[in-house]
Amino acid sequence: MKNILITGGAGFIGSHTAVELTVAGYGVVIADNLSNSDTTSLEGIEKITGRKILFYKADCCDKKQMQKIFGENKIDGAIHFAAFKAVGESVQKPLMYYYNNLTSFTTLLEVMAESGGGNVVFSSSATVYGQADVLPVTEETPRKTAASPYGNTKQVCEDILQDAVRAHSDLQGIILRYFNPIGAHPSALIGESPRGIPNNLVPFITQTAAGIRRELQIFGNDYNTPDGTALRDYIDIMDLAAAHVSALKRMTDHQSAGTCEVFNVGTGNPLSVMELVVKFQEVNKVNLKYSITGRREGDVEAIWADTSLANKVLGWKARRSIEETLANAWAWEKKLRRII
Ligand code: UD1
Repeated sequence: MKNILITGGAGFIGSHTAVELTVAGYGVVIADNLSNSDTTSLEGIEKITGRKILFYKADCCDKKQMQKIFGENKIDGAIHFAAFKAVGESVQKPLMYYYNNLTSFTTLLEVMAESGGGNVVFSSSATVYGQADVLPVTEETPRKTAASPYGNTKQVCEDILQDAVRAHSDLQGIILRYFNPIGAHPSALIGESPRGIPNNLVPFITQTAAGIRRELQIFGNDYNTPDGTALRDYIDIMDLAAAHVSALKRMTDHQSAGTCEVFNVGTGNPLSVMELVVKFQEVNKVNLKYSITGRREGDVEAIWADTSLANKVLGWKARRSIEETLANAWAWEKKLRRII
């Protein structure tokens, strides 16, 4: 059995990926400092999979803690999620973002290189494209200057991984550029639970529907799009999690050491904010209070993925419908808030 270290594995994407990996037969080791998550997600993973998860409360910036994990386990590969991710906060606290996001990744790579190498999946974002000139974006679409320190840490970490695999022939990497991950595991045992006021659209919607937020503000309806609201590529969290299994298989079966490939992970279907709001209400039979306000600073007008490379090379495709995804998102929020 191959053992995979999931850094940030108690978080939203990490916990769903831990489930998919376990189901696919991997041994999973989670390292998380719980700075933006708690152990409830670990209980959820164990309930869903029926397997015990090996968990280290550890900070990836701390080399000694990382060495301990690699010393106590045979780690064949790592998926690196551990990072700060709030765009606005990164503008307020750039040094905290640069320190945490870059140190955690370089420390992980250093420890891996010292422990005989392995496969690395880096969790990147469509944010690296900024507002692309041509849509949909392929992996060849040029990256634009990042609009925030958060976005910049994603670009720099991509470069770090490219350089690291070039220099360490026993490391190989895959960079996954996620579009907008939403939804929850169909069991409603794990899902997204942001601390404080959600920045992202779907958690804000589910919390508004649950009565925790008064109303949703739609940021701008004067974009050059069919209904004036911004276009995004919303991908189901379980489809996204499955892409990590495909990426690991690709590295084990086909890719050669010393290389690093990049893949877009999206659905390829653009959806507007308004379309998503309407769909959420229809699917879940709830009324959502919303109003239109001005554009949010730093938002792009439209972005969606060309996923042909991932479809062809990884043999992976997003399968779940937006209806299914929005139903799962609501089921999770209702369970969390004990709404019947
Ligand atoms: C953001 C990050 C992205 C990150 C992703 C994680 C940027 C610019 N964006 O993407 O890197 O990977 O989160 O999920 O770096 N909206 C509203 N009202 C709200 C919240 C959002 O109208 O209360 C709109 C936004 O203006 C946007 C869309 O909904 O048009 C999606 O927003 P959001 O979920 O925050 O994701 P992104 O900004 O696309």
